Parts: sequence; C-alpha cells; structure tokens
Amino acid sequence: MTARQVTQPSFRTSELDRFSAYRATEGTEATEATQGTEATQGTEATEATEPGRAEDILDLSNNELMLPPLPAVVDSLRRSSLQVNLYPDPTARVLKTTLARHFGAETEETVVGPGSGGVLQQLLLVLAGRGDEVLHAWPGFDAYPLLIAVSGAKGVPVPLTTTGEHDLAGLLERVNPRTRAVILCSPHNPTGRRIPTGDLLGFLDSLPSHVVAILDQAYMEFDEEEDPHDLGLIREYPNVVLLRTFSKAYGLAGLRVGYAFASSEIAVRARKTVIPFSVTRSGERAAVISLAQESDLAERLATVRRMRADLRSDLGAQGLVPLPSSANFVWLPLGPDSDRFAAAALRAGVRVRSYSGDGVRISVGTEEAHRRVLIAAKDFLSV
Ligand SMILES: Cc1ncc(COP(=O)(O)O)c(C=O)c1O
Repeated sequence: MTARQVTQPSFRTSELDRFSAYRATEGTEATEATQGTEATQGTEATEATEPGRAEDILDLSNNELMLPPLPAVVDSLRRSSLQVNLYPDPTARVLKTTLARHFGAETEETVVGPGSGGVLQQLLLVLAGRGDEVLHAWPGFDAYPLLIAVSGAKGVPVPLTTTGEHDLAGLLERVNPRTRAVILCSPHNPTGRRIPTGDLLGFLDSLPSHVVAILDQAYMEFDEEEDPHDLGLIREYPNVVLLRTFSKAYGLAGLRVGYAFASSEIAVRARKTVIPFSVTRSGERAAVISLAQESDLAERLATVRRMRADLRSDLGAQGLVPLPSSANFVWLPLGPDSDRFAAAALRAGVRVRSYSGDGVRISVGTEEAHRRVLIAAKDFLSV
C-alpha cells in the first residue's frame, strides 16, 4: 500500500485561536484523590499524613461546597446508577417544570443545561457571533473569555474597581452597536462582591435594549440579601437572563446541572443549542430532589456563611484585609504578593487560587483547611 500524503486539516480562524482549552486550576486533577468528603478534607487524611505532602493538600481553589451530598441525593444516585445504559430525557422535562414551579417561572422561560457554564455557552451561541462584542468584568470567571470566543464574538474585559466591584459606568461606556451581551456576576467571582440592587437597576435602565444582560448568579444562594424566588428582573427587563447552577450551594458540581430564566424569546432559542442528552438522568434527579430539601439547604447556607465570617475575621485578626464577601469564598486583594501567599498556603497544605498581580481567592472550607490558611497567613506576614 502506498503511503497517503498527510495534510493538516484546515481550521476556520477565529477568536478561539487566542485561547487554550479550559483548565480550572493547577490542582483540579489532583483534587480527585483528596477532596470530596468532609472526612478526607479535614480528619482522617490529616491525621495520617503531614500537611504539605502532595496527597494531603486540601483544595480551596475551586469554590466547591465543602459539605458532602445530601443523603436523599446519595440515595437517588445509587438508584440512577443502575440505569446508565439508558439515555436521559433529552429535554429534561421534569427538571424544567420543577424549576419553573419552584421559582415561579413559566416552563417556556426556563433553560437547563450541563452546568451554568454549559447554559452560558448555549446563550452566547444564540446571542453573539463573528463581529459582535460581549462585555464582562475582569478578573472574572475564567471560562467567560473562552465561551465568548467559542461563539465567535470578541470578549471585551472591563476592569473591576479597586474595591473589587463591577465598574458599571465603565461597562456602559463600552457598549456600542456591535455589543450583543454583557455578562454581570453577582456575587462576583473572584471577589465575592455583590452588585447593589439599586446600582443594578440603574445599569439595566441605561442599557440599550438590543444588549442582553446575562446576570450570573452562580453564588446567589450564599448572599443573604438575595431572594432566589424573586424573578422580578426578567418580568421588568425582557433583555435580562438569570443564570444559575446546582454546582455551588446545592453541592452538585460533579453532576453538571445549570439553568437559566429568561424571556421565552431568548429561552426558546437557547434550548436549541444544548448538546443533546447533556443533562444526565442522575443530574436531573439529584437536582429535582435538591430543590425539595429547603430546610437542609438553609442549614448548609447558614454553616457556609458562619464559616465565611470566621475566616474573614481570623484573617483580619492577623492583619490581612479580606473584602466583604457574599459568596462561598473570600478575596484577599494582595496585588503583587498574591503568588507568594498561594505558595505559603501550599507549604501549609492548602491550595488557594492566586490571580497573579490582583489577589487571592480562598473558598470556604472545613475547619482544618481554615487552620492551614491561617498558618499560611502567619508565614506570609512573617517575611
Ligand atoms: C461565576 C461562575 N459562573 C459559572 C460557573 C460555572 O459553574 P457550573 O458550570 O458548574 O454551573 C462558575 C464556576 O466556578 C462560576 O464561578
């Protein structure tokens, strides 16, 4: 047989060429072994091994919930594991209708997908394309620039204010006829700052109606000033999308379920761009069950908020100044010292997320993980 001549496939050139594939943090793969249950985070693992050794690093770099899945969810996962030979419902109808009923939306206004990252991609694919622009605050969720580029559009990052908040006036200044969407995030990842309601309404009143505002509410349940059942924004503003997830407060990050509420004009289009069968049977059931566990959720949120307050005040007592946070993480605006803090944390046996030059994001974790953060803070400040 004669050798075939091999040529390179030809790819379309796009905004995507500037990016590499999404990668959360250095430690994401390693966490598999060390994270996941409270036991491995805080007790047995630490007793057996010395802090600082690779297998014992506790991971506070991914904004995961530090609590194990709810018992009702674990039961449902056991049952659905026996049905993995079957496809899930491609429309995730039960989840969609349950979400709509639970939060007071119409099913038509509800979109579900594989994580809110997946739903964001679905939205961007129908809202923006080549030649268009999408605005977002920066630093922000790392996936924004990549997902915007997947749509073909150009991402326009707008720096946060010095207090870690959205520069709403700066975002409005950058709106032009090519702008299709603006992504807002409240509470914001990575700073934990919320957008005050009055400021948000003022922004939406000034935003031209051809621009869709995607309000990323991934961490909203941790924000005591938010009511997830209040969907007034989509009633008042047909160009607003509320983007949410089961990954954070509900603790289902590994199952990949996200959702959005929007006007039916937007939602009907976003439903078309979902990857078929991407919400799995296990994910759908676990999400539906989770919605019914209101008192468990409230208890968990209270725990996270209490631990967040403790972490902030303990860091403050050492002389560091974390920003006020409405999410399940805190932000230390350490500027050029951020990498040095992250290195001290690793030495103390805990991984945090450094945004080089800006700050350090520390997820709320177990008491043992916080103890190590405080050791790191002492080490960091001793230089
Ligand atoms: C602000 C924000 N939005 C969305 C997501 C994506 O979450 P998921 O795709 O798990 O729903 C994250 C994940 O960290 C996030 O920080």
